Amino acid sequence: MSIAIISPGRDPKAWIAALQHHHPTLDLQIFPHIDRPEDVEMALLWQHTPGYLKNFPNLKLISSLGAGVDHILSDPAVGDELPIVRIVDQKLTWSMTNYVIMGVLNYHRQFLRYYHDQQAKVWDMTNPELPVKVGVMGVGALGGDVLDKLAGLGFDVIGFGFSEKKDFRYPYFQKDQLEEFLSQVNVLVCLLPLTPETVGVLNLSLFKKCTKGTYLINVARGKHLNETDLLIALNEGMLSGALLDVYQVEPLPLTHPFWEETRIQLTPHIASVTNPLAAAPQIIENYKRLKADLPFLNLVNRTVGY
Ligand code: GLV
Repeated sequence: MSIAIISPGRDPKAWIAALQHHHPTLDLQIFPHIDRPEDVEMALLWQHTPGYLKNFPNLKLISSLGAGVDHILSDPAVGDELPIVRIVDQKLTWSMTNYVIMGVLNYHRQFLRYYHDQQAKVWDMTNPELPVKVGVMGVGALGGDVLDKLAGLGFDVIGFGFSEKKDFRYPYFQKDQLEEFLSQVNVLVCLLPLTPETVGVLNLSLFKKCTKGTYLINVARGKHLNETDLLIALNEGMLSGALLDVYQVEPLPLTHPFWEETRIQLTPHIASVTNPLAAAPQIIENYKRLKADLPFLNLVNRTVGY
């Protein structure tokens, strides 16, 4: 039985080293040099070409090389019967939470303002702290940790999600309560999974419901955000600024207006990059479970899409 690493968008070297470090005798085949496709029973995927999995007649398990599985589920050739697992990893969660905390604190303590003040040699002591109440959309492994750590720092936090959640540890709002949720916060963090229900959720109709001047942080997927609507919302004052890590098209095209928009701070999809050494053990564990016919770790629920 062999494991294929298929990550045309990511250098597989670190994954090979990490998997071999934890399991030296694994039979790995690395895209594009897969010459025994019939031996492949597990595929590790990052942005494979849709339809490519048809080459593997004996494929039994797919693992994402990241937290998201939208790049797998958007391929119509991935059969419904194939189990899909994803990475849930403390290091990945830690990095994501740190990024969001940095974004919230930067907004709260206005470091961009003071950076510009320094350039202009301006000494301005007025309003040094902006009031902050944070709403996190998506309260799974990542969103839940963001809520906990921000609450630990003393911020008021609430959560929002598309599925029902009983007895959640913070005030939790569902989709029919979106307006109420948005009216209570002025920093909005998107950590939703990308599913047919959440595509384009950050759009003008939502921005219109936001508290005036809300600050947006999108660290989920570019396809959650209608980028033209964001520019309109900034120009009309519905939003005051945004921190973005993900985009409709990546890398962000050089002609994209976001590059020039001073109210947007952007980073190149680095909020939380899976660490192969940290994630390899759970991939190997799932490979062992496949061989032993045991339930998988971090199995994706195909009905909800994450
Ligand atoms: C990164 O975007 C991931 O899904 O891990």
